[in-house]
Amino acid sequence: MASLQYLPLRAANLHTNANTTDKSSTSQLFLNHQKRNRFFSKNLSCRAAKESDGSQEDARSKSRSFQNVEGGKFDRRDILLGLGGLYGTTAVSQAAFAAPVDATKCGNADTLPTCTNIKDANCCPPPNPNITDYVLPVNQPLRVRPAAQLADNKYIEKYNKAMKIMRSLPKDHPHSFAQQAAIHCAYCDSAYEMVGFPNVKMDVHFSWLFFPFHRWYLHFYEKILGKLIGDPTFAIPYWNWDSPDGMPIPAMFADHNSPLFDKLRDDNHQPPLKIDLNYSKSTPSPVGDELIQANYKVMYNQMVSSSKTPELFFGGAYRGGEAQVKAAGAIENQPHTQLHIWTGDPEQKYGEDMGRFFSAGRDPLFYSHHANVDRMWNIWKTLPGKNRKDIDDPDWLDSAFLFYDENEKLVRVKVRDCVDTKKMGYVYQDVPLPWLGSRPPPKAKGKGKGRGNKAGVANAAEAPQVFPNASEVLPQVLNGLIKVSIPRPKKSRSQEEKEDAEEILVIDGIEYDGNEYVKFDVFLNDEDEVESGPNNAEFAGSYSNVPSISNNRVKVSMSLGITELLEDVGADDDDNVVVALVPRTGKGKVTIGGAKIIISS
Ligand code: C2O
Repeated sequence: MASLQYLPLRAANLHTNANTTDKSSTSQLFLNHQKRNRFFSKNLSCRAAKESDGSQEDARSKSRSFQNVEGGKFDRRDILLGLGGLYGTTAVSQAAFAAPVDATKCGNADTLPTCTNIKDANCCPPPNPNITDYVLPVNQPLRVRPAAQLADNKYIEKYNKAMKIMRSLPKDHPHSFAQQAAIHCAYCDSAYEMVGFPNVKMDVHFSWLFFPFHRWYLHFYEKILGKLIGDPTFAIPYWNWDSPDGMPIPAMFADHNSPLFDKLRDDNHQPPLKIDLNYSKSTPSPVGDELIQANYKVMYNQMVSSSKTPELFFGGAYRGGEAQVKAAGAIENQPHTQLHIWTGDPEQKYGEDMGRFFSAGRDPLFYSHHANVDRMWNIWKTLPGKNRKDIDDPDWLDSAFLFYDENEKLVRVKVRDCVDTKKMGYVYQDVPLPWLGSRPPPKAKGKGKGRGNKAGVANAAEAPQVFPNASEVLPQVLNGLIKVSIPRPKKSRSQEEKEDAEEILVIDGIEYDGNEYVKFDVFLNDEDEVESGPNNAEFAGSYSNVPSISNNRVKVSMSLGITELLEDVGADDDDNVVVALVPRTGKGKVTIGGAKIIISS
């Protein structure tokens, strides 16, 4: 499965297509591209139907739609045109040239999302014919990003001052807050096309581009703020939502008189209320210590137990010209999504600002939320386990994005230059990681609840419940609890085998309308899952989404590493695992395509 093992497509497809006119081998890709192209020409999920904030007007004209992007070593577009002529479709050639994603061409007059909801305005950066390759400055002063709840008044004053200036700049200035906000809208989907693949539009979410894109975005946001106040050491604060004192919205953002305040937030989620990292719009959150423990367990699951390989942590591969197989990494899926939904204003039609991707960048809190997401990338690499490394696939390393830097230069950046934040000139203030010790005490072997096979049932007098095999009952609409038994490729693996390869629960073909908010939880071998939550060892994870504006069907897959969890629930020697899917929001609106257990390669 490509999204899990990062299988390269390039060479094989190149040969197939170059040596034969038989299109059958690429017919599926061709169909995918057709579908995708229809999707993008008709639907603009960044499109705002309603102006949420008067300050977001934008007078940029359509002439900006056409960024002049210089070609690389060879002009892939020419080659594509040639192949397109040969085969009568560029879809074939798109598959042939699977390559790094070059997302540096913003604008196609027909499909530009109007992120600011001003007619004829778009979310592309102000035009500039000169795009240069960004070179990281050497010997720059180190920027230390503080935990927001620990920042002192002097720091807060400084950030307020910088943000005040940023908000006061003309809307078409690349350093204005309106332009910074538009960056997210543009990259959320539709505005950027892949260079060399003119019909393939970009979404940086649900894939291995999620971490590096947001890292670069924050880097320039921070450098620009520093420039505006003449302080190259200025570093943005991070919303330390993984630590009890950091769980409420940080005070500096909640001050109504501060330029860091945004009125489009949920009034019921103001400080001192703490975030629920397993938040669902329609189920009550735990309170007090139970909430804190549940948050620790979510963090432990996402950072430690379910994300032991790069594939699980970073998300699915996404290469040039490919239709995206949507598969978010562990942190993107949870709690990143929950923080967006919890913060956004449910009174607004679309949950602005944080509750939707097109508007999320309009809330200054967004940048601090993502700073903590970004911090998780650094922390993940330091945790024990031999597979906790950055991806070494050149298609990832050479993927490129476009930004204005602090000197108003339009620059092309590459993923390979952002894997080490020290080289980028910043680090995070060190604070304790209280969730690191939140692994539940292991249950004795054969003592797990709701077990999937008779052999391990402790009490022979109790007849085991038998659940249908996943392949017999899926696909199925998630109208209520779905509980299935899934065979394991291998049981009772040695410690060494476990360290080498991860056992992974894959739930795929998760389908819903993109403008719906849905959430369901996943439990392994539980008996009372409907009442259960992260505080139970059997909680494996949760799927939820940040809805878009379009109602296009979205199809995603979710992968959870379960090697450790199976030990925790005492099921490591079982032949089957019982997986329960519990809808929390959007009952009846999600279809589950299938569920299987695999061992990573
Ligand atoms: Cu680009 Cu939190 O999303």
